[in-house]
Amino acid sequence: MNPVAFNSTPVCITTNTIKPIHVFSSEERQNVDEIVVKSFGDEWDKFNDFDDKEIDRIGGEYFDIAERKLTKNSYVIDIGCGSGRWSKYLADKVGFIEAVDPSNAIYVADRLLGNKKNVRLSQASSDSLPFDDNTFDFGMSVGVLHHIPDTKKALADCVKKIKRGGFFYVYLYYDFADRGFLFRSAFRMADLLRGWVSRMPSVPKKIICDMIALSVYMPMVVAGKAVASLGFKRFADKLPLSTYRNKSFYIMRNDALDRFGTTLEQRFSKSEIEEMMKGAGLAGIEFSNGMPYHHAIGQKQ
Ligand SMILES: C[S@@+](CC[C@H](N)C(=O)[O-])C[C@H]1O[C@@H](n2cnc3c(N)ncnc32)[C@H](O)[C@@H]1O
Repeated sequence: MNPVAFNSTPVCITTNTIKPIHVFSSEERQNVDEIVVKSFGDEWDKFNDFDDKEIDRIGGEYFDIAERKLTKNSYVIDIGCGSGRWSKYLADKVGFIEAVDPSNAIYVADRLLGNKKNVRLSQASSDSLPFDDNTFDFGMSVGVLHHIPDTKKALADCVKKIKRGGFFYVYLYYDFADRGFLFRSAFRMADLLRGWVSRMPSVPKKIICDMIALSVYMPMVVAGKAVASLGFKRFADKLPLSTYRNKSFYIMRNDALDRFGTTLEQRFSKSEIEEMMKGAGLAGIEFSNGMPYHHAIGQKQ
């Protein structure tokens, strides 16, 4: 399958050859938080060596509701691809993937995806995507749009690029509105900590986030495993960080930096996500019952 021509000239990285052509200016990238983008460039530079088996297992959780919408001919766009791990996960299941990210993570993705001939990388944001509207069979934005100043507009910009009848998959942080008082209090404390840690210079920030992974994530996971092994799995599933019970310490360190290292993070209720998806022109919206919360897919009308 051949990709389309760019409709403007991004910093394009065709696999194995990095060719900076044009860097989008801040006038062209309006709906972007440049501090967040810089911080993600640093994050993916540190975390870029994923175990293939673990990515396959986590990919099964993330794409549970999405994989059946994909075929060997699907033309896919991965918006905010970061290290490129989900493009790598999907590359052998689809026709061609355009992986896009505004940060220097795109160079990390080039290393991870170096031998995938059906993935092209370009450095652009949701509001400077170098493709015509109605181009793709399937689009995805995994854990990205909540780090953008205007999430609703960003989602609409992404969905514009999908063909009528095509699908868009999104994972957005949820607001814990349905969780109990203790859980929400723990989240508020964590959020205060994030406000402080995320503003630190890069090196101490990474050290503190590793310490959070070791002193908070790890003990919670060990406690959750112990509770589950005593037969109280449903209770263990409700504990904070229960999603990490089947994940490596490397993923915990990566996610601690992701969570505590980012200055801009927005959270949405399920109904807000559904409303934004409908407003962007999607219908038949399906939410997964599984983690991460919430991930959903809809069909472009
Ligand atoms: C949490 S990471 C997720 C990366 C990848 N989707 C994953 O799940 O591994 C968020 C990514 O969104 C990118 N990003 C931030 N602002 C963006 C924007 N305005 N448009 C597109 N991507 C953006 C960041 O550079 C970062 O790589």
